[in-house]
Amino acid sequence: MSTAVVTGGANGIGRGVAGRLAAQGWQVVIVDRDAAAARATASALGVDHTPADVTDPDALGAAFAGAAARHGPIDALVTSAGITRVGASADQSPADWRAVLDVDLSGTFYACQAAYPHLPDGGAVVTVASIAAFRGLARRAAYCAAKAGVVALTRCLAVEWAGRGIRVNAVAPGWVDTPFLRAAADRGDVDLDELAGRPPLGGLAGVEDVSGVVEFLLSAGARFVTGQTVCADGGWVWAG
Ligand SMILES: NC(=O)c1ccc[n+]([C@@H]2O[C@H](COP(=O)([O-])OP(=O)(O)OC[C@H]3O[C@@H](n4cnc5c(N)ncnc54)[C@H](O)[C@@H]3O)[C@@H](O)[C@H]2O)c1
Repeated sequence: MSTAVVTGGANGIGRGVAGRLAAQGWQVVIVDRDAAAARATASALGVDHTPADVTDPDALGAAFAGAAARHGPIDALVTSAGITRVGASADQSPADWRAVLDVDLSGTFYACQAAYPHLPDGGAVVTVASIAAFRGLARRAAYCAAKAGVVALTRCLAVEWAGRGIRVNAVAPGWVDTPFLRAAADRGDVDLDELAGRPPLGGLAGVEDVSGVVEFLLSAGARFVTGQTVCADGGWVWAG
């Protein structure tokens, strides 16, 4: 049985990925800072979990070592832990800027580092970026910068780790109907009806639209694909 670790797997996209992989026979370990949600999701999906904050490299090291001790080599890593802060750039506090960069960019890097000694030759990583990496989204400077960093990080690791046959790719979702997006709507940061009108294919993505891309990137069908970022956005990023 292959083993996958999914950061941020307690909710949203990560939960969708964890469920999809588990349904296909993967042993899944959810790593999430929300211990209660991770426990509940793991119980619902019949998978393993361990609490850790992706901004804490020591905690991640222990979480990945524990996962490997329980399940053997970690064949795949999916990094879905992420946050955002929305507000005018001129007024954004250093604390808010750092929080987004710490979780979304540094946390992705730390998770890849923690996984590396446990990845077998031929293992695979999928990072979760965003179309924010490619668009100038007003009031989301930290998020756009962090996600552009994730795309660049993905390319670097793909080249650096190719010698061991480890593939590193990214999925870049558009707007996905998750607690992350619902919370943004509740704060008045986004209008869901307006967002649903943007992708040429129409509507918001569901988590299954993202987890399907992750599944492909982890599969043998993507054996010669590395360093790529696949947008799961209904065509929005390329629309005029
Ligand atoms: N929902 C969208 O529209 C959308 C679009 C593009 C990209 N994304 C990206 O997808 C990823 C997942 O988003 P989502 O919509 O599923 O969000 P979500 O809020 O539903 O789930 C995120 C999960 O990450 C966990 N998490 C947050 N900070 C963490 C930390 N420091 N350490 C460990 N776990 C942490 C949370 O506890 C939560 O379980 C994020 O990276 C987000 O930027 C989301």
